[in-house]
Amino acid sequence: MLQRRELAAFRKQLLAWFKQYKRDLPWRRTKDPYRTWLSEIMLQQTRVAAVIPYYERFLERFPDVHALATAPQEEVLRLWSGLGYYSRARNLQRAAQEIVARHDGAFPRTEKEALALPGIGSYTAAAILSIAYGAKHAVLDGNVARVLARIFAVRGDLRDARRWQSLQESADALLAPGSPSDWNQAMMELGATLCTPQSPQCLLCPVTKFCQARKLGLADSIPARRKKRATENIVLAAAVLLDPRGRTLLLPPPTLSKAKATHEQISILVSKLWHFPTIAVRIDPTGELRTRLHEILPASMTKQSLQLEPLPIARHAVTYRAITLRPFRVTMAQLPRIAGAKIIPLADVASPSAHAISNLTRKAARAALAGPAALAARA
Ligand code: ADE
Repeated sequence: MLQRRELAAFRKQLLAWFKQYKRDLPWRRTKDPYRTWLSEIMLQQTRVAAVIPYYERFLERFPDVHALATAPQEEVLRLWSGLGYYSRARNLQRAAQEIVARHDGAFPRTEKEALALPGIGSYTAAAILSIAYGAKHAVLDGNVARVLARIFAVRGDLRDARRWQSLQESADALLAPGSPSDWNQAMMELGATLCTPQSPQCLLCPVTKFCQARKLGLADSIPARRKKRATENIVLAAAVLLDPRGRTLLLPPPTLSKAKATHEQISILVSKLWHFPTIAVRIDPTGELRTRLHEILPASMTKQSLQLEPLPIARHAVTYRAITLRPFRVTMAQLPRIAGAKIIPLADVASPSAHAISNLTRKAARAALAGPAALAARA
């Protein structure tokens, strides 16, 4: 730990640096708890640059917690569409409904109540309570943990439960009690802009003289590389049905109670949003996809064998899963009427934000629009 005088100097220098160099981000222009909360949820697992347009569009449509609580879920997902990790959007809306029902529309002020809301863990609770209400809770996320590990030359896997706990204690001890909001944001900012995972810019760092890792020549090797979870490779096959007017068929976000195990797995992979008829391939993509189409299409439409034209493959990564999507175009004189399904122009599936559709489904739609010709040209 730092001695008292050092601690005061450390806080002063980091806060002065933040004041001068902080990025001008939309959520930094407000202390509205709803906006702070929304930004923190969007920033989980997503980069600042990707979040900004989503944040602004979302607030235009849902300017306050009441608007969000009463909106159709479909619309919330549509505005989240493309940002990924869609359970964040569902939890956000459920939390908005709880805030309206139990907290009179105001984000709660205690950690205990904040943690009881869906989608709020200890990092997010600390961030919101400190930024919106000035409460003395220190944040600890990947960026902050890296900064702390370097300052105190912490070796080993930071996510190890005991080490993480000890980093939380260091974060709590460092927190500048007079400015928790700026302090937390300054720690995050340092991690995001200078004290980066690769090639940290120690020469520009406002607290370099306090850094043990720098002193020991370990700034590049701390934190230790994490034991990475093995990548799971998954192959999906999707049927892009297409009628002569360029329209296609999408199945609705599955309701979990009805879903069977395998469909549930697919639903996770297509993010439980609107999706093409899709299967997880075991051995034979076309055979298995054809079987699935026979299950969902009316018998009158499958009397003649369905032609499945392969389209360019799309790839997508979600945490530890590497997904290979093999789309197939199935041209039909007429699209089937299936309860709950929607029939819309394929171009609308390919373009952003018209419907609640995942990036993976969009990629398949773009492949289908480019068509088999693109495949031939590539071969
Ligand atoms: N990442 C998480 N929270 C953030 C914030 N408030 N500002 C910038 N990046 C962040």
